[in-house]
Amino acid sequence: MCGIVGFVGRMEAAPILLEGLKRLEYRGYDSAGIAIEQDGKIEIVKTKGRICCLDDMTDGGKKTPGTLGVGHTRWATHGEPSDVNSHPHRSMSGKIAVVHNGIIENYMELREYLRKKGFVFVSDTDTEVVAHLVDYYYKGDLLEAMVKAVNRLEGSYALGVVCADYPDRFAAVRKASPLIVGLSEEGNFIASDVTALISYTKRVVYLEDDEIVLVGREGIQAFNMNKEEIDKPVSEVTWNIDAAEKGGYEHFMLKEIMEQPAAIRETIRPRLKEGQVVLDDIQLTAADLQNFNRIVITACGSAYHAGVVGKYVLEELTRIPVEVDLASEFRYRQPIIDEHTLVVIISQSGETADTLAALKEAKRLGARTLSIVNVVGSAIAKESDDVLYTWAGPEIAVATTKAYSTQLTVLYLFALYAAGLLGTRPAAEISRLVQALEALPDQIEALLPACKPEMQRLAAIFYGCENLFFIGRNLDYAAALEGSLKLKEISYIHSEAYAAGELKHGTISLIDEGRLVIALCCQDRLFDKMRSNIREVKARGAVVMALATAQNKAIAESADQAVLVPETDPLFMASLEVVPLQLFAYYVASANGCDIDKPRNLAKSVTVE
Ligand code: F6R
Repeated sequence: MCGIVGFVGRMEAAPILLEGLKRLEYRGYDSAGIAIEQDGKIEIVKTKGRICCLDDMTDGGKKTPGTLGVGHTRWATHGEPSDVNSHPHRSMSGKIAVVHNGIIENYMELREYLRKKGFVFVSDTDTEVVAHLVDYYYKGDLLEAMVKAVNRLEGSYALGVVCADYPDRFAAVRKASPLIVGLSEEGNFIASDVTALISYTKRVVYLEDDEIVLVGREGIQAFNMNKEEIDKPVSEVTWNIDAAEKGGYEHFMLKEIMEQPAAIRETIRPRLKEGQVVLDDIQLTAADLQNFNRIVITACGSAYHAGVVGKYVLEELTRIPVEVDLASEFRYRQPIIDEHTLVVIISQSGETADTLAALKEAKRLGARTLSIVNVVGSAIAKESDDVLYTWAGPEIAVATTKAYSTQLTVLYLFALYAAGLLGTRPAAEISRLVQALEALPDQIEALLPACKPEMQRLAAIFYGCENLFFIGRNLDYAAALEGSLKLKEISYIHSEAYAAGELKHGTISLIDEGRLVIALCCQDRLFDKMRSNIREVKARGAVVMALATAQNKAIAESADQAVLVPETDPLFMASLEVVPLQLFAYYVASANGCDIDKPRNLAKSVTVE
């Protein structure tokens, strides 16, 4: 969703802001703008539409000279996408300009308060109150004004605040919305996400809630809400600019599909020592695990689908009952959890609003929380008792691929680790599974070159299909959920994932002549059951594309099209079968001319409810 970038230093700010905003485009937005300070005045250029419009309006930044500024991409929440609702927002006196990510929940009340004080509002946004509020409290000391304004705000925010009286510094603060500070010889930055500044620096400072930072040309100063200066550690980003570029691929999504073997290797590598799973990154002990009588996994979208895989794997290996819940449901259903519950939160971005709220609810109810997150220092990672990072690197395509695959990997690692500590599985079986896990990246690497043309061929046959079904049993069903979502979100073709045994309880009435059914038959012990399901739908006219393991070549006799995938332990099959499904979605979307990396209406991180 919205993106923020800010810079002050020895270079012109506008071109840096425009480049940063382009790198944030993947998050999803509908308008953009920049505010540049020069000679005690703040110039704002903003517009509905793409960054390229802003680029044209400012002639690549040349028309807005100045070495201090902030920029923003907006994904409309309060007020339609329009020039006037775009950020930055200026205060009435013109002294303050603000960019904001998040939602100011008490903005109506603040609006009324400020209106009575004579402030006139020009936009429909919640953000404009922040500009007026900082101005209202500003008596020559920006830090003081920030503290007073922030004290009045309820909700979530990452704010970049420029003051016309401060030619060398701007202010920033965050609460429950990501914001990092970047440090370089040429100047200093803020950004809602590392990708916006990675081409300038890898040295970053992660801010905590309600820490206010004054970002200066020569350095930064961070303060708590008592205006006491605090020391902030500097961290080094571990990935390079190439990770945030297409590197010769037509789309980020394809690049990220191809990066899966490396990403999974990176997720496993630091956690395997002498054939054992070692999770140094978490504090959970055997005694802690014994204390849990239940595990609840909560997440949204694909991360939820990873959770469904996690349920099967964790239950089988640890024998602890596992429940999976959508975060948006969990947070409002008064879940029955206590200190004997482990709540596992899964999120690529670490900032999904519903998932973050579910985490807070779990903590409030006394559960122990473990998050599986990709973005280092994100809100969910910070709030959880323990974090297992997925180390997938930046994921730019809106449709997740490598993050999902690494989420599965972390779930497998955690399940094996817990089974080892609890002794719920014999050591020999755990060793065998660890070996199978280690082999997964090589297996995917070998699968990709053959699978790409094969799925392109099948997409060329089926790209015009409508209302198709993905069916599977057990972990195949979990993979079907993800395959169906991938297709829907990037190709706009409706599909449904169904537990194959459930079809005959209603849905089979939708099967008619020529209806495409994608049957996942990769769980060996359920292979014959799946063949029966295939027979049932074919008898009603369906065209079946089936996925099975190489040892079940016989699938070709039952299906119209058969795709063979390499074999691993059935517990890990979702990791292999999802690859052809991702590629199928990709090529179908491509054949339909869809905007694959930025599907309509979608944002990469969903920071609103
Ligand atoms: C689908 C997709 C989304 C996300 C969901 C949760 O391809 O990417 O369904 O999985 O919005 O996002 P995170 O993982 O950032 O919490």
